[in-house]
Amino acid sequence: MPTAFVFDAYGTLFDLHSVQQRCEGFWPGKSLQLSQLWRAKQLEYTWQRSLMRRYAPFSRVTRQALQYACEALGLALDESRSQALMEQYSRLALFPDVREALARLKGHKLAILTNGSPDMIDPLVAHSGLSFDAVLSVDPLKAYKPAPEVYQFAVDRLGVAPEQVSFVSSNCWDALGAKSFGFEVNWISRGGAPLDRLGLRPDRILKGLFEL
Ligand code: LAC
Repeated sequence: MPTAFVFDAYGTLFDLHSVQQRCEGFWPGKSLQLSQLWRAKQLEYTWQRSLMRRYAPFSRVTRQALQYACEALGLALDESRSQALMEQYSRLALFPDVREALARLKGHKLAILTNGSPDMIDPLVAHSGLSFDAVLSVDPLKAYKPAPEVYQFAVDRLGVAPEQVSFVSSNCWDALGAKSFGFEVNWISRGGAPLDRLGLRPDRILKGLFEL
């Protein structure tokens, strides 16, 4: 049995498309497209910044991705809307299976390992009322998942061996990054997307956290 379950945050525990409701109020009929492009750019920017070795905190990356997505879709974004949407990121909804899954895993070390910077993830976890043994942001490393040093950081901070970690992510790129590092990996394939072709396979492909 693993000693620690380490969870990704956005998309795994927290439903980031719940920002969509707020977007819908600002730009009716455009919210789905906007939240998808916003997320896609947010992730791209983390990877591009990692390759360029130009780290910026996830809060800045997220804000800049929003600016890009709005411009690309021809949506007017002013400072107050940008601020309102960033605040929404601190109040994202939990996926419905999270509380019970975490309750059932009690007795193991439970941790979050996220690209989210502390200014984003700390208020979000506080708002959720969930409690973890550790909430680890990549921020001190100035590198983003799926860089291997980020997964090593979790091992070091939790004081466990890599083989004692069961990693949980709904983001395939993150699940495979964790697998490449050496974790046992559960990919939560919430949307039923195909597996990324990177020559790696997660140990389990699950439909939801309840299957853990
Ligand atoms: C996380 C995002 C990027 O690391 O899913 O929580």
